[in-house]
Amino acid sequence: MSLWSARVSAGLDPTVVEFLRADDAELLPYDCAATIEHATRLRTAGILSADELLEVETRLGPIANGAAICDAEDVHSAIERHLGEVGRKIHAGRSRNDQVAAALRLYVVDACAEARAGIGLLSALLLERAGVENATLMPGYTHLQRAQPVTLGHHLRAWAAMLERDHVRFEPPAGSPLGSGALAGTTLPIPPPPDRIPNSLDAVADRDFALDYLYAAALLFVHLSRIAEELVLWVTTEFGFARLPQSAATGSSMMPHKLNPDVAELVRGKAGTAIGRLTGLLATIKALPLAYDRDLQEDKPPVFGARKDVAGALGALTILLADLEFDREALAAAAADPSLLATDAAEALVAKGIPFRDAYEQIAESVRDGSFEPGTTAAESVAARLSK
Ligand code: ARG
Repeated sequence: MSLWSARVSAGLDPTVVEFLRADDAELLPYDCAATIEHATRLRTAGILSADELLEVETRLGPIANGAAICDAEDVHSAIERHLGEVGRKIHAGRSRNDQVAAALRLYVVDACAEARAGIGLLSALLLERAGVENATLMPGYTHLQRAQPVTLGHHLRAWAAMLERDHVRFEPPAGSPLGSGALAGTTLPIPPPPDRIPNSLDAVADRDFALDYLYAAALLFVHLSRIAEELVLWVTTEFGFARLPQSAATGSSMMPHKLNPDVAELVRGKAGTAIGRLTGLLATIKALPLAYDRDLQEDKPPVFGARKDVAGALGALTILLADLEFDREALAAAAADPSLLATDAAEALVAKGIPFRDAYEQIAESVRDGSFEPGTTAAESVAARLSK
């Protein structure tokens, strides 16, 4: 029996029931929390007795901690049914429309906090490792061609800088849609939440908070994929800048000698999925008339998927990066390539008063004919540029 079965005369076809079913079990604890909040206001309005409020709290409290309840069209229906007799009163002054918007917001608040915690751990680790590698020379790249010497510390701090911006981006949503009812409030004297979203139509229709979260997750994944791609390169025999740790490397099912960077590759692959979740929900919401439409049920799987992948990728990458072994000799040998000092040599001529383009041409010619002699070492070059 659905919540709305009194409205329809014949039974729904099981195929339709199945099609309408929401994949929203993850929302359960948040929906319980929103329901308890609503029940508290129903008590203030005199619609629930003190005993009935207690009944709601006792029945939903343990569920809020994760137990599964029952099979229904969605978690909202499951909760109402689970509440038994008091469940027949709980839906006064609310709709699944404000309820689902409220529950999903609470979910995203937790997901943002979780993402920030994971990002915080990874960036702290990167800064810690960077501190140890302040004097480790390596080539810096543009176009994936050796460009100028940098330090590994500088490179690791660039990774951390991307993550620091991500940390800011996972801003938890504020405001409660409760009190907005199906779309236009209620006649009942139920006190609104203090942080009620002012416009009831907007409150049930708005999913910007889910899109903001998916954007933050997509961009985090884009950053993680850049880190992952560099790791994949660095652990190749060709680069040889680092060795994969046993804690985060995989073997081949056939080739006994292989040690593969599957963690970094899967992070890189999941970046595509993360972008897809954002574009998918944007497409769902585009041109959707206000206020609520069932299309919005599609907002949950991408948000749930993003939360799982953000936690998984940050966790696995943190382990890989904590245990990764850098080959300082290989890094230094690559940084000792004299042509990396060509720019410094041109700048040394500029310091003597030669126009930059003339200096550039003079050095370029010496590089071309093989007569280029750097006037400094990679370490001196780094000290002159990066200590500023
Ligand atoms: N399961 C629905 C969702 O996720 C809940 C809201 C249903 N509201 C409705 N008017 N049919 O969006």
